Amino acid sequence: MLGKEKQSGQRLKHILLAVTGGIAAYKAAELVRLFKREGAEVRVVMTQSATQFVAPLTFQALSGNLVHIELLDVEAENAMGHISLARWADVLVIAPATANTIAKLSQGLADDLLSTLYLAATCPVYVAPAMNQAMWNHLATQENIATLVRHGVSLIGPEQGDQACGETGFGRMSEPVAIGKIILSALNEELFEAVSTAPQAKFLTGLKILITAGPTCEPLDPVRYLTNRSSGKMGYAVAAAAVKAGAEVTLVSGPVTLAPPENVTVLKVSTAEEMYQAVLREALKQDIYIGAAAVADYSPVQSIHKLKKQNDQDSLTLVLQKTPDILASVAALEHGPFTVGFAAETHDLETYARDKLTRKKIDMIAANWVGREQGGFDSEQNALQVFWSDGEQLLAMMDKTLLAEQLLELIAQRFKTVRAGR
Ligand code: PMT
Repeated sequence: MLGKEKQSGQRLKHILLAVTGGIAAYKAAELVRLFKREGAEVRVVMTQSATQFVAPLTFQALSGNLVHIELLDVEAENAMGHISLARWADVLVIAPATANTIAKLSQGLADDLLSTLYLAATCPVYVAPAMNQAMWNHLATQENIATLVRHGVSLIGPEQGDQACGETGFGRMSEPVAIGKIILSALNEELFEAVSTAPQAKFLTGLKILITAGPTCEPLDPVRYLTNRSSGKMGYAVAAAAVKAGAEVTLVSGPVTLAPPENVTVLKVSTAEEMYQAVLREALKQDIYIGAAAVADYSPVQSIHKLKKQNDQDSLTLVLQKTPDILASVAALEHGPFTVGFAAETHDLETYARDKLTRKKIDMIAANWVGREQGGFDSEQNALQVFWSDGEQLLAMMDKTLLAEQLLELIAQRFKTVRAGR
């Protein structure tokens, strides 16, 4: 709880909550209560349109502070103008963030209090988008989001589900409890010192990163094999983003049709066993290992000859044997790299992902939904829920290229925190 700091003589954490004009504005009231309950000092900024949804008095009563709305407010300028507010904040949380606000911030406009504050803020900024699913999916919004991420902003949500407009899809603001958990856990972990809102273009300089991508192909006989729907797009995007961030990257790739990313050493493999051998050969030279490949858990006991159709049998039983668990093997290495797994889930995502995190003894796990309309296997976009021993972060549905950059920033923060503690 943040309030503990008061007892130890330090000041309370300062959370600056910006509310913009969407139907989810009412949920921001719950956020204020949650932050206050945890002992934070909260100040609220509202855009003019937000005041159409919830009365400023609500936020004033809940936060115990005057609500800030106007950019040029004579009284506020004397006390808490945009520069003072920006300096005051340990974190700026924009929830809900409308498509309009996201567009304005991405363009660097400074024509109201929130947009001006955003430019003046040097603290970490979290944005929880909320809008109609078509607006969220529009290329313009996705490009604006990409720009914000390049500014160093962290996204929370949006979530998939029924929307106020009657449609279904991505665009619902994350629940206040989920947003609160992320902000409070980051504040408690003092991650903020490591996370600057200034873009850190080369934040992986000097690090060696080993990444797996794509499917594995497990031969059944000389002409047939078992495989899965992985296209390699996610792992290749992580490899390209890691190079961009200054890392020396080795990519162990299953059979895919993608062009190899520039400046990456690519080791091509086919089966899980080959991937295991290639990864284990490289692992001890690496700082970070990221297992994005969809590795077969079982492989057929291979037939030397082509399997023949049995005219007198309606079914055929295949015998499969377990493949080596590459991720768990890397995590078990003495002096091995910081290990990050992926988890592809069709149900109970958090339970299964957390189980893999602890069972395989890895440092982080990035879980994604598969078998759904959007995201996962062979799609251009994806969303990830990333878990580590005492924290989690949601990375919203977005282009895999951009998602890979955000994932790497998170991995770099955790890597540095863990290494600093050793
Ligand atoms: O390639 P795309 O089309 O872009 O799709 C991306 C993706 C959906 C494949 C990717 O985002 C993803 O989820 N990759 C992991 C898929 C998977 O195999 O998940 P899993 O939950 O079955 O495995 C958990 C982890 O263990 C993974 O890191 C996997 O690489 C690893 N594993 C699994 C089995 C095995 N024998 N060895 C392993 O290392």
